[in-house]
Amino acid sequence: MNKVLRLEITDKCNYRCDMCWSKKWKHKDLEYFVLEKMIAEYAKIEPNGCIVLTSREPLLSKNFIPILELATKLNLDIKVLSNCSLLSPSICEAIINNNVSFISTSIHGTREEHDEIVHVKGAYDATIKGLELLNSYRKKYNKNLEIRVTTLFRKSLLNNINSILDLTTKLDLTLRIQHMMWHPVEIQKLNRELINEKYGYVDDIIDGFPNKTDLNGKEALKLLKTIRDLNKEYHNIQVYPELYDDELISWYDDTTRVNKNNYCDHSSNSIRIRANGDVTFCQYIDKTFGNINNQTLDEIIYNNKEYNDICKSFENGEMLPICYRCCHCRSKIKKFKNNEKI
Ligand SMILES: C[S@@+](CC[C@H](N)C(=O)[O-])C[C@H]1O[C@@H](n2cnc3c(N)ncnc32)[C@H](O)[C@@H]1O
Ligand code: SF4
Ligand code: SF4
Repeated sequence: MNKVLRLEITDKCNYRCDMCWSKKWKHKDLEYFVLEKMIAEYAKIEPNGCIVLTSREPLLSKNFIPILELATKLNLDIKVLSNCSLLSPSICEAIINNNVSFISTSIHGTREEHDEIVHVKGAYDATIKGLELLNSYRKKYNKNLEIRVTTLFRKSLLNNINSILDLTTKLDLTLRIQHMMWHPVEIQKLNRELINEKYGYVDDIIDGFPNKTDLNGKEALKLLKTIRDLNKEYHNIQVYPELYDDELISWYDDTTRVNKNNYCDHSSNSIRIRANGDVTFCQYIDKTFGNINNQTLDEIIYNNKEYNDICKSFENGEMLPICYRCCHCRSKIKKFKNNEKI
């Protein structure tokens, strides 16, 4: 398999999380017949491929269960990113009965902190209820399904990580701690200018990110050390993206963070479909290559020189300012180290 199909099946969400860049998105959701045609084409090109149902809140899409069934029929692996607050017995059954191998959800600390961050009272309890339900189905049917909690690398984690670990241990969940993607206003401006210069359109996705963080580099390092110590006991805490200590300090301290020695192969390895059918470069760069309402994936991606040339340039380290605090940005040094091992 070469490319994962990342499908933003809806732009609706029942939350308004402080840090979420997509709060203002208003795309029109796709019709099922368009999705059906596109997924069938994908399965032909990438037999045994993988689709990721994502974006804002995929459980709000009327196409959620039909897509699980279709992808399963086509022998595709399915991964879901959801806040899990809307899981019901019928959705859990559909997850268990189809090829879903992975679900990621988000918990942002204690009940009070979580509800405050997502701006909905009762949100924490709704997600916990959803996770308990899904875990009970997973156990009952002995289903091989990874359920992961993602939480943000924030100052308060120093105080509340134990409550998150109690939960992940109790419900047999894996844990990812994700670095906060934040972009100071100068970087937002520079990103807009460079995209306009390079691709000739105004891209304001970066404006949706927070422009500050509650941690400085020193505090970030202290938090990372705490997590490393806890990992001696828990083993399964993943911090993402994996950064060297100096990269971590610069992620939280440096307000420029451009022209560093990084690369990205995310778009070489995936296809990003927006809820309105636009096929964009990645989650955070709206450069559009076509629309699946009236074009095929072969035309837009596989046989598109422009798309493949841009992917190559990012693989070669020609990045944009938004890239340097992106979860998909990779360190060159690590790539070379990995290659040496092979
Ligand atoms: C965009 S959400 C989509 C799935 C689902 N709605 C959810 O919240 O889990 C995917 C993940 O991105 C994380 N996220 C949102 N804004 C972020 C930011 N600025 N930096 C890092 N992660 C962020 C969320 O916490 C969530 O875990
Ligand atoms: S639940 Fe997910 S998509 Fe919705 S606002 Fe929060 S981070 Fe964004
Ligand atoms: S590193 Fe840049 S190109 Fe890669 S996914 Fe992030 S924003 Fe997109």
